[in-house]
Amino acid sequence: MDYKKDFKFLNKGIIYFDNGATTLKPNKVIEKMDEYYYEYPSNAHRGDYDISIKASEEFENVRDLVQQFINAKTDEEIVFTSGATESINMAIYGYFMNNLKSGDEVLITKSEHASVIIPWFDLENRLGIKVKYIDLNDDYTFSIDNFKKMINSNTKVISIAEITNVIGDKRDIKEITKIAHENGIKVLVDASQSIGHIKVDVTDTDVDFLAFSAHKMLGPTGVGVLYGKKELMDEINYKHGGGTSVSFESPSEIVYKDLPFKLESGTQNIAGVIGLGEAIKYLNEIGMDYIDSYTNDLKKYLVSKLKDNHNIIMYNPDVEGSILIFNVKDVFAQDTAIYLNNNGICVRAGDHCDKKLHDEIDVKNTVRVSLYFYNTKEEIDKLVTVLNNSNILEESLGI
Ligand code: ALA
Repeated sequence: MDYKKDFKFLNKGIIYFDNGATTLKPNKVIEKMDEYYYEYPSNAHRGDYDISIKASEEFENVRDLVQQFINAKTDEEIVFTSGATESINMAIYGYFMNNLKSGDEVLITKSEHASVIIPWFDLENRLGIKVKYIDLNDDYTFSIDNFKKMINSNTKVISIAEITNVIGDKRDIKEITKIAHENGIKVLVDASQSIGHIKVDVTDTDVDFLAFSAHKMLGPTGVGVLYGKKELMDEINYKHGGGTSVSFESPSEIVYKDLPFKLESGTQNIAGVIGLGEAIKYLNEIGMDYIDSYTNDLKKYLVSKLKDNHNIIMYNPDVEGSILIFNVKDVFAQDTAIYLNNNGICVRAGDHCDKKLHDEIDVKNTVRVSLYFYNTKEEIDKLVTVLNNSNILEESLGI
């Protein structure tokens, strides 16, 4: 299927291979946000007039859409945030900071994003918990056996991505959660890279917390979701302010609203949430299974085309998924990205906010191609042709 017509941006002829950083936004999502600003541009949950009631209904409809999309049991478990980073911070500082103590252990991997690793490092500094790494397999994917070996009586949390943003491997969250729960371990999942690619199901996997951003699933920037089991979310107090309380007479007499409102302080990104709803409808039309298999096939095609170019070092060619990281021999990753940009191709280069992975792959900077369902084999052919040029360094530096 050709989805390019649904994305006005693609009329520019730019080849966009940086979907791991953010996806493009379909026209429908942009139009829906315009609708809010043009037709009912009022605050939500606060006005007793028609357009505010309309804004509130549109906003709350999205909560239901999110609930269905990730198969949560109740919409009280869906809290809107500014993005996955805030969602992860809310779970760590709102729940875990009050439930962990010195000596408790948190398991992560060196393949996790900064937004996962840094808050846990900070909690280690604050509480004296211990952040430990689960060794990866030789191909940098997650190892269930290594996870099992790390578990001891101090292990209290495993905090990992469902799909990682550099290697792009998919973890078996259901199996990981089963093992975790058998050992009294809570599970916090970063679904930033998985939410727009595979079916995410919090009931089937039984995770405790799950975080994601709208902008990696065709929605706008500045919106995210924290899902958490109701009994855990009930324990969180995170951001305090307007919209979260029933009354406050004195410091000892603050009466908070029920979930989810007690966690949504201040005026929310109303247009953004409404845009997220439109993104979910669009993803539902396409189907997550289709997106997963199409992008996996596209990666295989890319790898098959690049493997004859002996100037290209691929780091994760056999990992199933939609992400390939590579370098051109003797060319700094950012120079390759600049060269590709000069040829109308957008990729990300650098450490991709994953500053521990270099311990594993022995290279700090790579070029990342992250694919989505609107990318095509023709676009990949163009990338491969451009990479087959032997003067990449000279051309990227303009010499
Ligand atoms: N986390 C985003 C990425 O991986 C920004 O590129």
